[in-house]
Amino acid sequence: MQFQPQVPLAPYTTLGVGGPARWFAEAASEDDIGEALEFARQRNLPLFVLGGGSNLLVADAGYDGLVLHIALRGVERQGDIYRAGAGEDWDALVAQAVAENLAGVECLSGIPGTVGGTPVQNVGAYGQDVAETVVEVRAIEAGTGKAVIFSREECGFSYRRSRFNGQDAGKYILTSVSYKLRSDGAPALKYPELRRSLPDASEPSLAQVRETVKKIRRSKGMLLVAGDPDCHSAGSFFKNPIVDLATADRVAAIPGNDTANMPRYPESQGRVKLSAAWLIEQAGIAKGFTLGRAGVSSRHTLALINRGGAAAAELRALRDHIRAAVEERFGVWLEQEPVMLG
Ligand code: EPU
Repeated sequence: MQFQPQVPLAPYTTLGVGGPARWFAEAASEDDIGEALEFARQRNLPLFVLGGGSNLLVADAGYDGLVLHIALRGVERQGDIYRAGAGEDWDALVAQAVAENLAGVECLSGIPGTVGGTPVQNVGAYGQDVAETVVEVRAIEAGTGKAVIFSREECGFSYRRSRFNGQDAGKYILTSVSYKLRSDGAPALKYPELRRSLPDASEPSLAQVRETVKKIRRSKGMLLVAGDPDCHSAGSFFKNPIVDLATADRVAAIPGNDTANMPRYPESQGRVKLSAAWLIEQAGIAKGFTLGRAGVSSRHTLALINRGGAAAAELRALRDHIRAAVEERFGVWLEQEPVMLG
């Protein structure tokens, strides 16, 4: 295993922004992870685990520690359970499930990143999230080097959350994830926009759902297309805020909004999920807005993009500008979704 000094991180991220790692190594096995932990411990370096880099904003100064790129591979199928190495490409796994007529992840087509990232932020889209299918997560505990196994219940999943980005952030290095799929082949069609976009078929196939989801994502700049700067993003840059009923009603009553079309989705305990994209637009920031070399995608307000050669500072300035506008108009604070490194 090689430890390389001063490796630029921008090429390892979908945003393509940020400085170098002081040290960089690639782990293809659990033994490699052990070696990397030892390397970092001996030099007293912090360690950051890098997957697909699709939900990451790296600071311009880079990272003064060891970045461990996870390259553990392999997909095993046992009945309707897949166990995949954390470094496997997520969308390739979805494609395999669809091809083998296994349902449960088809709505998560076209999402960039690796398998290991999916339980961390409970990846979700178009009415599905991985919390529905994850049955086991294997990991190495960074502090001790010991292998641990988590059941779904032990992962602590909620909207864009798990123990791995919550109370245990940085504590575990995920090595594999098992997903229990369904061999009945019936796709999930919960999301109205997905239902509307499907070709006229009373029972669409998994493959049709996959193609339709990819088409929708593409139309929103949320599919990586080579050479298209509109998709140099980290997906949604903000979470959809979950507020109490009184706040949702207060937001809806602010004069001058397109309130009739205000998206609101019921959550547990009487709370309401608002659309961050809608709030941003109503706060006066339109698709295609630019600030320096950073900008808002021309196809989706939540995708902040690198228009070419942007610095992390430019993306932060844009983030702060958007947050301030939404807070001033609605009194709602938008939480950043991508991880900040450095
Ligand atoms: N909207 C706007 N302007 C836009 C886009 C959307 O006003 O530019 C409004 C529309 O009214 C729309 C509503 O916002 O009905 C919801 O939009 P959309 O269906 O695009 O979903 P989203 O809430 O913006 C979430 C996830 C995406 C996921 C989609 C589809 C979050 C933070 N984002 O976006 O996930 O793909 O739903 O399920 O939950 C990601 O997390 O990186 C991500 C891409």
